[in-house]
Amino acid sequence: MKISINGKKVEAKQGETVLQVAKRSGVDVPHLCSLDWAPSPAASCRLCVVEADGSSRLLTSCTLEAADGLAVQTHTPRVLKARRAIMELLVASHPQDCLSCVRGGHCELSTLAADLGVRKARYVGAVKHHPVDISSPALWRDPDKCVLCGRCVTVCHDVQGVGAIDFTGRGFKTRVAPGFSPGLNVSECVFCGQCARVCPTGAIVERDQVDDVVAALADPDAVVVAQVAPAVPATLMEGHSKSEGVRVMLERLAAALKRVGFDAVFDTGFAADLTIVEEASELLDRVRNGGVLPMFTSCSPAWVNYVETHRPDLIPHLSTCKSPQQMAGALIREIYPKRTDLDGRRLVVVSVMPCTAKKFEAQDLDGVDHVLTTRELDHLWGRFGVDFGTCTEQAPPDPPFAETTGAGRLFAGSGGVMEAAVRTAHLLVAGSELEGDPKVAEARGREGVRRFTVTAGEAELNLAVVNGLGRLTETLDELLDPQTSLHFVEVMSCPGGCVGGGGQPYDTDVQAVKERLERLYEVDRRSRTRRAHENAGVQALYEDLLGRPLSEASHRLLHRTYTDRRPHSVQV
Ligand code: FES
Repeated sequence: MKISINGKKVEAKQGETVLQVAKRSGVDVPHLCSLDWAPSPAASCRLCVVEADGSSRLLTSCTLEAADGLAVQTHTPRVLKARRAIMELLVASHPQDCLSCVRGGHCELSTLAADLGVRKARYVGAVKHHPVDISSPALWRDPDKCVLCGRCVTVCHDVQGVGAIDFTGRGFKTRVAPGFSPGLNVSECVFCGQCARVCPTGAIVERDQVDDVVAALADPDAVVVAQVAPAVPATLMEGHSKSEGVRVMLERLAAALKRVGFDAVFDTGFAADLTIVEEASELLDRVRNGGVLPMFTSCSPAWVNYVETHRPDLIPHLSTCKSPQQMAGALIREIYPKRTDLDGRRLVVVSVMPCTAKKFEAQDLDGVDHVLTTRELDHLWGRFGVDFGTCTEQAPPDPPFAETTGAGRLFAGSGGVMEAAVRTAHLLVAGSELEGDPKVAEARGREGVRRFTVTAGEAELNLAVVNGLGRLTETLDELLDPQTSLHFVEVMSCPGGCVGGGGQPYDTDVQAVKERLERLYEVDRRSRTRRAHENAGVQALYEDLLGRPLSEASHRLLHRTYTDRRPHSVQV
């Protein structure tokens, strides 16, 4: 079908909204409450209004379905006037602290206000005075900055299926908050941070730890080291030369971190390889010795939070392996001081992660002091005057956590843990490597749930990959049904996996996630070693320290326990 946008005929698909068709056709219609990749909103902001033939009213293009022959005008004087009036009202009741707001320079509201020509607050409206919620170690909420667009509510309910926050109160007192709860820390929130990633203002943001890191770097009594998750360099490549690989970007990042004062930079991908060896061994142990099945992965901290907060009955199903961040943290503390003379100084471990839930995890477990999201890196560069885009210097990650196989890099995407685990489990179960290209195509993709069976020697392993918490809640009963005979389930909380994490850049959309996943597949394809157990550093670690997978030493450093955190069981 064809519709006309500003007099130009454009192709539209069945079910598409005018806003979607306009975007695809290069017409930028301002919008605040709708998201390209999430279910349609309640059309609350009305910034997307257009004029349509046959209607005397302005219509919201985010809910107006394309119909053959429909003709709309997106930027008429009447439309521009209406949008500007709406924006002026939003600005009138918004705090005027943009100079010190954490979203300064990255605020959709202020960008839209500028686009619409709103240069000053023409109206003086009543201003809200809600307390700021800083109770959570991962996410902070400032309800005064909320424009009630509802994106966070849509994402929390309809995409993630968690439902921790919702609209509460009436009229001017309406706000978004956890139900009946004084703070996010004791709510049903799992800290995935998808709300923060889609918030157009500073109403929900990650707990900023840049100050803590800057203070540690300035402390002469501290040795500060960083570990970098595989998703981060795969994301930073956006906007940079396509000829650069993920490894080159990691080395550029390592050089920039050293330039601002880090004493060493490690690759968390090393710990991803280690996680796979431990996790595949645990799976085999459970299968052979009648352990609880299916075993669920435990590397996504928001998923672990979901189990602890919503379904503690599933704790026996969780692998006891720590996440790569926490394995790396424990090993850095165990090994680095023995290799490097700290000269009485304290060791500070900083993680650079695509994830806000990692901040909660780092506080919950020992090993990591501070966690910076991919977004916070920009603030760190700002403090030290680093223009990362022009930094071409490279520094390889530091030993002993410098190497990562293709399997470890795949960890950053949905299905990657499963693919890496299959490669190692095949050796453990069948006594031989997967033949030929070790790509496990069934684990890849962006569907919500993928189930498949892998044959390893005489054995068959029944496996499932869950892409995003929203799909999990719909299918959990089926996954647990003994009839399905599943052995192993990978769960990534954020759609697309870590590359779509809650700490990733604000403009992350479906296309960006797809491109990041392709980059991971490419780096895996080009890797010299593609199986976690081939990582020479991991092999040396077993020889020198751990002995074997699931040993006493590995349990002490690499495994963990879980807690029932249902909101009613937490003391406020
Ligand atoms: Fe259409 Fe908000 S984007 S009403």
